[in-house]
Amino acid sequence: MINILKQIVIDAGEIVKEGYNSKKDIHHKGIVDLVTNYDIKCEEFIISSLKNKFIDYELIGEESFNSNFDFTKAKAIYIDPIDGTTNFIHGIPHFAISIGVWENNNPIMAVVYNPILNEMFWAIAGGGAYCNNKKLRVSEQINLQQSLIGTGFPYAKVNRGIEYKWVIASITNLLPNIRDIRRLGSASLDLCYLAEGKTDAFYEIDLKPWDIAGGILILLEAGGKVTNLSNKKFNFNDKVIVASNSKIHIELLSFLDEV
Ligand code: IPD
Ligand code: CA
Ligand code: CA
Repeated sequence: MINILKQIVIDAGEIVKEGYNSKKDIHHKGIVDLVTNYDIKCEEFIISSLKNKFIDYELIGEESFNSNFDFTKAKAIYIDPIDGTTNFIHGIPHFAISIGVWENNNPIMAVVYNPILNEMFWAIAGGGAYCNNKKLRVSEQINLQQSLIGTGFPYAKVNRGIEYKWVIASITNLLPNIRDIRRLGSASLDLCYLAEGKTDAFYEIDLKPWDIAGGILILLEAGGKVTNLSNKKFNFNDKVIVASNSKIHIELLSFLDEV
């Protein structure tokens, strides 16, 4: 099954690469939240490819999703056709196609593929996590002050509401107490870079299941930890995801306020 997923994202990657190098039709989903004809084309390709191979799964793609999440579904596949659309539009080669297969609220298989760098992150529950053929392991960092931490900013920031205020508070609290922050622009890759040991932690407010359904398994299989703000097992209803190499998790949580 994992080889089917890998082949689907490799083929979908050709659509994304073609789009990266050409003029795109860009539409606004919100004030700063953009979508291109390539996000849609890529998602349509992935869903039509998965349909006859994963017949008893609900397929939940970002661009075609139009109802409320029903997390009681025993089998679901979450698809983000381009995670990092802003980078894709601005010509920054940091975005990925993300697919996460979940059963009974647990991740069982994942692929996150950056077609520009040719990096295929993948994992099977219980089987470890890999980038291409390289096994992934989280960093050994135990010192928060020496930690590099990824994060992201929700599109809702434009409303200056609670999400925006929480983001600003988190940076105010954390920045003096860590090495630095990275806002790379693709949550799925943020989780993979953490799994690879490039960063030591990642947190973000208001992500959607398709942003993280793939990356969560890759991180867990590389020895990382994923919780909510209360240090409980993360689920898709949680407002904030906190992920780390596990060693700095508790200290990181102490700098993040409840929302
Ligand atoms: C976005 C990226 C970004 C995160 C945003 C997401 P998109 O996904 O993952 O890093 O900060 O909140 O929505 O819109 O490019 O698929
Ligand atoms: Ca996304
Ligand atoms: Ca997307």
